[in-house]
Amino acid sequence: MKRLLVLCLFCVGALWSGCYEELIEVFDKYGGDRYMAGEAVTQKNHVLQAAYLAEKAGAPEEIIIALLFHDIGRVIEDDLIGNEPALHELHDDLGANWLQERNFPKVVSDLLRYHTLAKIFLCQEESDYYDHLSLPSQDSYHIQKEKYSKKPDAIDRFNALPYRSWILTARKCDDMAKDAYLDWSVGDIPDFDHYREMIERVRCGEGKPAQLEDWQQTIDIWHLKTIRDFGV
Ligand SMILES: [Fe+2]
Ligand SMILES: [Fe+2]
Repeated sequence: MKRLLVLCLFCVGALWSGCYEELIEVFDKYGGDRYMAGEAVTQKNHVLQAAYLAEKAGAPEEIIIALLFHDIGRVIEDDLIGNEPALHELHDDLGANWLQERNFPKVVSDLLRYHTLAKIFLCQEESDYYDHLSLPSQDSYHIQKEKYSKKPDAIDRFNALPYRSWILTARKCDDMAKDAYLDWSVGDIPDFDHYREMIERVRCGEGKPAQLEDWQQTIDIWHLKTIRDFGV
């Protein structure tokens, strides 16, 4: 009973501190900017599409919410340095720390922390993956690879994660979430308010598990289809 009371107090505190409002505020300010120079999608549309792809596939709520926040570091950085692709190599750590400060579970902050490293691994592990990244994503790959060549500890930590494969799969939602690619599958993309309660559930450690057991295979199939039908 006492534990339940503590949990409730924590959740009330989380709601009161307004993580959702912070998300809205920062995206209202900068979310209309291009995701990256050369991309056809805005920052806001990119994260909404990524989250919705995961939701459509039946992924755990931690993954859906992590994708919703996955580039928050990029948007926060706009406050500091402007929307300069070459300067965005820190956005994974910046975003992960932002979520940690707001008490999100580690699986969520780790998805942010390692989502650029996941791209590097997928380039190494899956033939054709690099060739079918968007051109701005190929450019940033080289910057990110250089960054991680100096961080072998981060690579070891990533490889030891029990949910490493989740992060690799989620990365494919990130790559597909570029507007023009989505017409074939998912229909209307909901706005941030669709995720309001889910954000708080996940932050309280009460995110729902995967709704469909084969969510990772579904995303793999969509990603392959994207490559075949819309590859750049
Ligand atoms: Fe990113
Ligand atoms: Fe992204």
